[in-house]
Amino acid sequence: MKNILVTGALGQIGTELTLALKKKYGNDNVIATDIRKECNEALAGTGPFHTLDVTNKEELAKIIKQYNIDTIFHLAAILSATGEKDPILCWNINMNGSINVLETARLNNVKKVIIPSSMAVWGPDAPKFNTPQDSVLKPTTMYGVTKVCGERLCDYYVQKYGLDCRGLRYPGIISSETLPGGGTTDYAVEIFYEAVKNKKYTCFLKEDATLPMMYMPDCINATISLAEADFANLKHHSDFNVAAFSFDPKTLAENIKKYMPEFEISYAPDFRQDIADSWPKTIDDSAARSEWNWKPNYDMDLMTKEMLQILTEKHKNGKF
Ligand code: NAD
Ligand code: SER
Repeated sequence: MKNILVTGALGQIGTELTLALKKKYGNDNVIATDIRKECNEALAGTGPFHTLDVTNKEELAKIIKQYNIDTIFHLAAILSATGEKDPILCWNINMNGSINVLETARLNNVKKVIIPSSMAVWGPDAPKFNTPQDSVLKPTTMYGVTKVCGERLCDYYVQKYGLDCRGLRYPGIISSETLPGGGTTDYAVEIFYEAVKNKKYTCFLKEDATLPMMYMPDCINATISLAEADFANLKHHSDFNVAAFSFDPKTLAENIKKYMPEFEISYAPDFRQDIADSWPKTIDDSAARSEWNWKPNYDMDLMTKEMLQILTEKHKNGKF
């Protein structure tokens, strides 16, 4: 991995992944791209940024050639809640974006492509607890449908063309740098911002809606570890389960109260509750643990403490 392209680099994961890759591989060797015109504050001044719509194959090829790209982290996507509001947009960006990235990579000698998947690949028919690596994939959201197809596409490119494609099924990702972009697990980020700002939060999921979650440092660590793993050791490619911890909104609120006793939560479930109901509660990530030594460092309590510390500081400095 010498010359790296990141799509969707201004998103929740893209921003922090790009910064981590720049730290490791050099600012000028990691090219940040996004459909948005303006670079965000976190990435500004850290090296090349290009506006790129991943549905535009010609522009994508141009940037790959310009920087002699050998590795692509393809993060541009429409997430679950936005996807249910506009399923055709979700299909277009997620499917056409992914096939463009894979095909353009193949035709331009890119060596490696990393495309994240999601716990959204599962639907109501899958086991809810300790959901296995290889279990029935019948999602009921358009986002989930695109994630299953994305995994199959990646494995097809591995098998047919020998392109090195890899991916992980992230759970909900919790972070303090960039706000999430329209998912069902966004409540687990919003709750911290609202706790720090207003000491209260109205949750759009029910109090007992347990979902798998992960703190951003573990997400970045997982993504880079998988990207750097020896291909020969991988039996899976595009669909690694990864897990850290699971909780429901009530348990997270109680944990926040440990550090902020005056915090109050109320509930007003909306359409996102149906999406949450269709997803697993806990995930079995033993394949990732054995094939590339995956292991999370954060539990819910450590994540809560750190989120509150960082956001309290940001709030004091007028960042939100
Ligand atoms: P995000 O919504 O925060 O960011 C996506 C980025 O893609 C945005 O900056 C957006 O501007 C950009 N984008 C949208 N359409 C584009 C287009 N046509 N061309 C180029 N860029 C475009 O998403 P994220 O949370 O950073 O997710 C990154 C990846 O991780 C996605 O594949 C997502 O499905 C997956 N994932 C995320 C989570 C999570 O909790 N954040 C969980 C599971 C999987
Ligand atoms: N966090 C994502 C979402 O809620 C899961 O893929 O859409």
